[in-house]
Amino acid sequence: MARALLQTAIPATGARCPARSARVSRVVRAAARRSSDSSDAALGRRDAVVGAGALLMLTTRVAPATAEDEAPDAAPEAPAVPKYGKPRVVITGSNSGIGFDAAKKLAKSGDWCVVLACRTVAKAEQAKASMRSEFPSIDPNDVQCYACDLGDMASIRRFAKDVTAEGPVDALCLNAGLEYSGDPTVYRTKDGFEETIGVNHLGHFLLANLLLPALESSEKLAHPRIVVTASEVHDPASAGGSVGKGATLGDLAGLERDGKNFEMVSGEPYDADKAYKDSKLCNMLFSYELERRLQASGSKVTVNAFGPGLITRTGLFRHQQPLFVKAFDLITNTFNVAESVDGGGNTLLYMLTDESLEGVGGAYYSNTISPGSSPTGHAFIVQESSEESKDATEARNLWRLSEKLVGLA
Ligand SMILES: NC(=O)c1ccc[n+]([C@@H]2O[C@H](COP(=O)([O-])OP(=O)(O)OC[C@H]3O[C@@H](n4cnc5c(N)ncnc54)[C@H](OP(=O)(O)O)[C@@H]3O)[C@@H](O)[C@H]2O)c1
Repeated sequence: MARALLQTAIPATGARCPARSARVSRVVRAAARRSSDSSDAALGRRDAVVGAGALLMLTTRVAPATAEDEAPDAAPEAPAVPKYGKPRVVITGSNSGIGFDAAKKLAKSGDWCVVLACRTVAKAEQAKASMRSEFPSIDPNDVQCYACDLGDMASIRRFAKDVTAEGPVDALCLNAGLEYSGDPTVYRTKDGFEETIGVNHLGHFLLANLLLPALESSEKLAHPRIVVTASEVHDPASAGGSVGKGATLGDLAGLERDGKNFEMVSGEPYDADKAYKDSKLCNMLFSYELERRLQASGSKVTVNAFGPGLITRTGLFRHQQPLFVKAFDLITNTFNVAESVDGGGNTLLYMLTDESLEGVGGAYYSNTISPGSSPTGHAFIVQESSEESKDATEARNLWRLSEKLVGLA
């Protein structure tokens, strides 16, 4: 990456695993320019060394076999040597937009094994071919293709089983997303959930829970990271979030009352634009709640969320009126309101690899408009998320209802 696109107000902080951090961060450091004038007070730093017992909550333990357990003529077991020398990261929605951009850069760095978790395996294969045709130096073994349809719980469960059977999982980017703004039709996932919340929140909720044991047993990273692609529109006070109805889940009446037949989490009449904003609020509530749970259990896994900025040239707006999208694209890019796909991909890379986030959880970063800060006039900085996103009671309730819907409770 030749261009310095990112600028953060977070200074580099003492990483607990400097050698590893230096290596995994190389890919983004070339793109990230730091200023050194701010503090990390808003962040929850987890410096305690994780006790093995504390991992029990999230890890299924298998008792070691005793001599009596083994048949005398049993074939010797394969040695428990990790198959992959590089950390292995799962990225959802990695066939398009910022997920594809970040996956490509990680694969090109040679430092990561990248799992493309896409709606179909054909889409993942196509993405792999496309990144390898752009960068022939990418090792084909460093890019793995899987189907993970976030609108189909059976597909998510199959994926989690297959990907963990195939090797370790050291990091997870919950990045896929969709929106149907302006369309009055209530689309539903295979399991019957309204699709925006079903894919953006519930699918990722299930996936993260299924992959937690694997992340906990990562041997390659001192602090395996979960990165959640949220958005500033989760916040009704933000520029993007204040257009139209603002995000709020109310008292979660839709989920409480209607179960899997909900149209809106809050129980109000369907509004596709608000459903998207609500889904991003769910992403924030989920990130903070998971981080709290992991901290309470003494886990080494960290969770952070971010908004990549407005990026008109990904596939996100594919369901909107093409003429509107064209005009919107022209205006927002002319006046540097929009971020580039390259810059958006770098924000995801930053969250996954930057040293300053080593051992840090519970942070929210946003790619804010900041004229002169980068070629697209953006600065990627720690931000306060919305008031509602910090409501721990609401987050617990959302967790409880989500668990029920996806069959984890
Ligand atoms: N673009 C922006 O302005 C913006 C701003 C803030 C936040 N974000 C967030 O950034 C993330 C990435 O979006 P993007 O802008 O890069 O858009 P994108 O190019 O449309 O990428 C979205 C990805 O999600 C995948 N996806 C959608 N439904 C899926 C499903 N059922 N199962 C598996 N994968 C599914 C898509 O796969 P298919 O190609 O198969 O549909 C695609 O790979 C999203 O979470 C979005 O909310 C974007």
